[in-house]
Amino acid sequence: MAAEIFEKVNQVLEEIETATPKTKEEVEQFRIRFVGSKNVIKPLFGNIKNVDNNRKKEFGQLVNKVKQAAESKFQELKDQVETAADAAEGQQLDLSAPSEPLDLGARHPISITMNRIIDIFQRIGFSVAEDREIEDDWHNFTAMNTPEDHPARDMQDTFYLKNSTEMLLRTHTSSVQARVMKNQKPPIRIIAPGRVYRNETISARAHCQFHQVEGLYVDENVSFADMKQTLMYFAKEMFGADTKIRLRPSYFPFTEPSAEMDVSCFICNAEGCNVCKYTGWVEILGCGMVDPAVFETCGIDSKKYTGFAFGMGIERQAMLRYRINDIRLLFENDTRFLGQFKSAL
Ligand code: DAH
Repeated sequence: MAAEIFEKVNQVLEEIETATPKTKEEVEQFRIRFVGSKNVIKPLFGNIKNVDNNRKKEFGQLVNKVKQAAESKFQELKDQVETAADAAEGQQLDLSAPSEPLDLGARHPISITMNRIIDIFQRIGFSVAEDREIEDDWHNFTAMNTPEDHPARDMQDTFYLKNSTEMLLRTHTSSVQARVMKNQKPPIRIIAPGRVYRNETISARAHCQFHQVEGLYVDENVSFADMKQTLMYFAKEMFGADTKIRLRPSYFPFTEPSAEMDVSCFICNAEGCNVCKYTGWVEILGCGMVDPAVFETCGIDSKKYTGFAFGMGIERQAMLRYRINDIRLLFENDTRFLGQFKSAL
C-alpha cells in the first residue's frame, strides 16, 4: 500500500520533470494541471493518512518537493514564452516608421494673458519688478496710505499668517510700489505682475487667489494726461485698435485723483451683450495719480515728483478673452481645460 502511494507521487514528479510544453497554450495546460487551484498535487497531500507513521515525514517532504518542482518549472516556462513573444514583437517593429509626435503642453491662460500685458508695457519702457507674496502690513497697507481702521485691513478680507497681525498674504500688487519706491530713485517706470490673495468665498466669479499687474510711473511733470495716453495705448494693443476707453471717477487710498477705467466691449463691439451687461463697456483697472502722502512715506520728494499708478486683474481679462465662465477652472489644473490653450495667443 505504502509503496503504491509513493509510486504515484513519483509518477507525478516524473511527469513534471519530463514535460516540454512549448506554446503559450501548452504552458497554460501545464499550469492548470500542476499549479492551478485544482492541480493534481493537492490531493496527494491527503494520502498521508494512509502512510505508516514512521514514513509520514518522508512522504510529506516528497510531496512538497513535487509541489516546488511544479512551481519552479512553471515559472521557467512562463519566462521562456514571454521572452519568445517579446522577440517576435521586436521583429514586427518597423524602426523606420515616423515616431509619434510629442504631446506638447500648453501655456496657462493666465500666463498667456500676463505675458501679453508685460510685453505691451515693456515696449514703452516699463521694466518688470517682482516681489514677495508674503508681505508685511506696512508695505501692503500703511505705505499705501491705508489707515489702521480701513475696512480693507479687516481680518475678513486679508489672510494674516498664523498668530501674526504683522505678516500677511498681499492683497494687491500695490505693495510692490512701496518696495520699489523705497529702493529706487525716480525716474521709475515699472510693472509688477503677480499673485494676490483675499479671503473671499470661492464662487464662479470670485476666488481667494488671483493675479494682478501693477504699474507705476514716477518722474518730474508726470500728468494725468500721460496716464490716460499710456492706458489708451495699452487698451488698443490689448483689445484691438478700435478699442475706446473711458475713465470714471473713483476712490483708492493711494491715488488722488483716482479713476476706474472701462474699455469698449471687444466681444460685441460695444453693441451690447451679456458680457458687458448691455452697457457696451467692461471695467478692467483702477488707476490714479500717486497720492503725495504715499511718496513721502516711501522717501520720494512729492514737491519735485509726480506719478501715476494703476492695477488690473488678470483673471477677468483672460475670462473675457477666452470666454471662460467660471474662475475656478483657472485654478483646478484639469488638463481637459488647459489643453484647449495649445494654440492660444
Ligand atoms: N490695488 C487696487 C486693487 O487691488 C488696484 C489699484 C487701483 C492699483 C488704483 C493702483 C491704483 O495702483 O492706482 O483693487
